[in-house]
Amino acid sequence: RLQTQKFSDLEEKLCSPSQLHPKPEVSSLVFGKYFTDHMLEIGWNANKGWEKPVISPLHDLQIHPGAKVLHYAIELFEGMKAYRGDDGRLRLFRPDRNMIRMLNTAKRVSLPEFDMEEMIKCIKRLIQIDRDWIPHSNTSSLYIRPTFIATDPSLGVAATNSALLYVVLCPVGPYFTSGFKPISLLADPQYVRSWPGGCGSSKMGANYAPTIYIQKQAEKQGHQQVLWLYGDDHQLTEVGTMNIFIFMLNKKGERELVTPPLDGLILPGVTRLSLLELAREWKEFHVTERNITMAEIVEAHAENRLLEVFGAGTACVVCPVANISYQNRDYKMPAVESPLSQRFFKTMSDIHYGRLQHKWAVDI
Ligand code: COI
Repeated sequence: RLQTQKFSDLEEKLCSPSQLHPKPEVSSLVFGKYFTDHMLEIGWNANKGWEKPVISPLHDLQIHPGAKVLHYAIELFEGMKAYRGDDGRLRLFRPDRNMIRMLNTAKRVSLPEFDMEEMIKCIKRLIQIDRDWIPHSNTSSLYIRPTFIATDPSLGVAATNSALLYVVLCPVGPYFTSGFKPISLLADPQYVRSWPGGCGSSKMGANYAPTIYIQKQAEKQGHQQVLWLYGDDHQLTEVGTMNIFIFMLNKKGERELVTPPLDGLILPGVTRLSLLELAREWKEFHVTERNITMAEIVEAHAENRLLEVFGAGTACVVCPVANISYQNRDYKMPAVESPLSQRFFKTMSDIHYGRLQHKWAVDI
């Protein structure tokens, strides 16, 4: 019988005091630039199954130049965060949702299954070991990057016989250094991020590499992010690496929060899910998962029915949009007195930092 990975087998090879790195100032935390002292690794091979989990000092990987990950991008990643609460306790936000998504991506990219409960225990232990790296700041957090790569040293386009699952940690600052800074989007229908039958709903690295060139085009034109459209009717799908939300008045003048449905084109974001669940609990406006086209945005804009557009993701939590550039026109978002995006951000932060007790925030 193949072995599953077990937390109880975890081996710890910790840094000696002289191997520990100095921690960066909270004010200098650039996303993903600094790494903590340790990492978690779990090897897998097709004959034996999972090896013992090992936590050891952060180190370079040694892989064969023929490893499948380097040729066919057989890999996936996840992103989640741990927070140091105002009460000093450390919390993870909905790690089960990330592990479920990771298992779904693993299936799609032909990497093996794992036991998500055991994985969460191993990740919690890694965070405990590097707990001093979690910033003492309620605008900062520890970004957790589980990564899973196919290491089989053979060039056949086929399932891998060996793989490495590893987790690294990065202290990260507030996504916006000066509070909320609304961004401008380029919506160009000639570029598509995801399509029916594709893998846009999986968090695999192969979905991100092709977006960087388009992101550069947006920046050249003076925008911060790409608004990804799909189809002849120019449906809004995602913004940059985030899910998109549109808050508007419908034709009857009622408030409606819209986000595209999980129809295979959309990454099932944990923040997306959480905002939907919060809004449905509040019961103050309609909450709908449906397709929404640029024609509808243009019409709502002309009729002053557009209230807010914002992105939602783990990295920034909520990211307001100031402008959409589409077919050589700029559609500016109105100034709203008490924005929904800020209310979402505050509620999520209150949960992250333990100011609001909630089942989504789990102790480490
Ligand atoms: C997010 O949380 O918005 C992301 O997906 C960011 C990550 C790809 C860097």
